[in-house]
Amino acid sequence: MWLAPLHGITNYHFRNCLYRHVEGIDVAVTPFLPVGAAAQLNVRRWRDVAPENNTTCETIPQLIGNNPPHFVDTIRELQKLGYNRFNWNIGCPAAQVVRKQRGCGIMPHPAWVEDVVKLVTEETDCRFSVKMRLGLRNTDEGIEIVKRLNPYPLDFIAVHPRLGIQQYEGVPDLDTFQKIYDLSTNPLIYSGDIFDIPSYQQLLARFPNLMAVMLGRGILRNPFLAEELRAGTPLPEEMRRQRFSDFYSDYVDMLRQVRGEQGSLSVLKELWHYFAHFFCLTEPELHSLLRLTDYSEFCGRAAEIVRG
Ligand SMILES: Cc1cc2nc3c(=O)[nH]c(=O)nc-3n(C[C@H](O)[C@H](O)[C@H](O)COP(=O)(O)O)c2cc1C
Repeated sequence: MWLAPLHGITNYHFRNCLYRHVEGIDVAVTPFLPVGAAAQLNVRRWRDVAPENNTTCETIPQLIGNNPPHFVDTIRELQKLGYNRFNWNIGCPAAQVVRKQRGCGIMPHPAWVEDVVKLVTEETDCRFSVKMRLGLRNTDEGIEIVKRLNPYPLDFIAVHPRLGIQQYEGVPDLDTFQKIYDLSTNPLIYSGDIFDIPSYQQLLARFPNLMAVMLGRGILRNPFLAEELRAGTPLPEEMRRQRFSDFYSDYVDMLRQVRGEQGSLSVLKELWHYFAHFFCLTEPELHSLLRLTDYSEFCGRAAEIVRG
């Protein structure tokens, strides 16, 4: 099972904490990092990919951008840190990213996507991959990109089967994913809405040749999801709360060291939208936690929920 990149959440402190408390994650793709020209880059300051912060599990740096030579420069710099697998994000649907023709904003331009992949595969010896949606506005965009990438020996193509304009609305479009699955000669990774054992098993039954499945929000809703999917059975009820509590207190401590109390509070509030599923919180219960603005008060209330 792979850990999906979640910008602002699955940074190294989250990843390391997860690996300490949970089994079943084989590889993690980092949240995106911007490519740049050699002269402007100082990748040694990128804490998220610093080798000393990534000792436990294989980590693939994810890059975002659209300038082919910048990819080559950034990859060469990161290779000096010991990395040799890189992923390109062409799926981010955030308006400020799309406007600059980055992330999903490049999907309507398949020749441009090909230019980046061509240069990287010609100029570097790394294992390069892309992570995409089905398109920005329509699914023909994704299908065209997959066709154009077939001649290039990519590490993999990871697909979140929604359009950019959908953001996270609706359900994953598995029929279009099927077309990509039938068409791609590159290995495929699936990413989207795997929240429990049945959704995982149904996916594997329909797409038995996937290279891997990425878990994103499902891990936030249930940090033990990868372990449960691997075992094919949920964690015993009596262990769930204690193990969550151990994971959560470790994570809160680590986050406070890295982000300070105020910085932690906004991350924890975002995370509790997902953790609410683990504890089956009602809307009013979640709301009463999220309206707390004092860090200590928030942590006290959250600890009560975790204790049960
Ligand atoms: C808060 C958030 C941040 C995300 N950040 C990234 C990112 O940095 N790079 C990326 O490729 N995808 C990113 N994604 C997309 C996820 O990696 C994943 O493809 C998507 O959420 C669908 O999978 P899931 O249903 O398992 O979460 C993000 C998604 C969310 C919800």
